[in-house]
Amino acid sequence: MNGPGRLITFEGPEGGGKSTQARLLADSLRARGLEVLTTREPGGTPTGEIIRDLLQNNLSGEPIRDATEALLFCASRAQLCRDVLAPALGRGAWVVLDRFTDSTLAYQGFGRGFDVAALRSLNDFATGDVKPALTLLLDLPVEEGLARAVSRSGKKDRIEQAPLDFHRRLREGYLRLAREEPDRFVVVDAAKPVPDVTADIARVVEARFFAR
Ligand SMILES: Nc1ncnc2c1ncn2[C@@H]1O[C@H](COP(=O)(O)OP(=O)(O)OP(=O)(O)O)[C@@H](O)[C@H]1O
Ligand SMILES: [Mg+2]
Repeated sequence: MNGPGRLITFEGPEGGGKSTQARLLADSLRARGLEVLTTREPGGTPTGEIIRDLLQNNLSGEPIRDATEALLFCASRAQLCRDVLAPALGRGAWVVLDRFTDSTLAYQGFGRGFDVAALRSLNDFATGDVKPALTLLLDLPVEEGLARAVSRSGKKDRIEQAPLDFHRRLREGYLRLAREEPDRFVVVDAAKPVPDVTADIARVVEARFFAR
């Protein structure tokens, strides 16, 4: 069960600035004197980080099947929810999370074509009662996000190498998820410069949690 803490998740296609903005939001929440934890998916626990490495760097040397990929993401999530998120939220901490359940729906559902309802069940199995209070969808044209991701690392990882229309499907999928849950999702225009995006997010968080 979610305690008095708050879970804020960042979602969106590659290179939208999730990691950048998650760090900045966490800093601004800490400046309010709140206990803030930042973590990421896949990863965030020793088991999860091994799963992350396996997924992103093809450690086994064999192609990872789409079904295997979906389950590995959920396995990382199950460990994170039990060992990190539930305890933190239970003691009243705020958690800023770089990707969560919606990434599975977008990548494995809309991207790879698995049944979205089945993936929701897998997500529920993995998360138990851990639910985001707010999901910030950093939305931008796929070409722009991929170009940013490449300029950051100089190369594409396994998922970034997927064809352009995979990335287009997942952007559209994310926007659909946001339309389905307008109370939880806020779509942020991530094509703007970093400080503008940060300011837009600060306004959303202020209105949602701190306005009186
Ligand atoms: N608003 C922005 N405008 C221009 N460049 C940006 C912006 N936000 C982030 N970047 C740059 O784009 C790259 C990707 O940003 P970041 O790693 O935060 O994105 P991400 O959404 O976490 O990507 P990924 O999905 O690959 O993890 C970084 O080099 C970052 O400095
Ligand atoms: Mg990132």
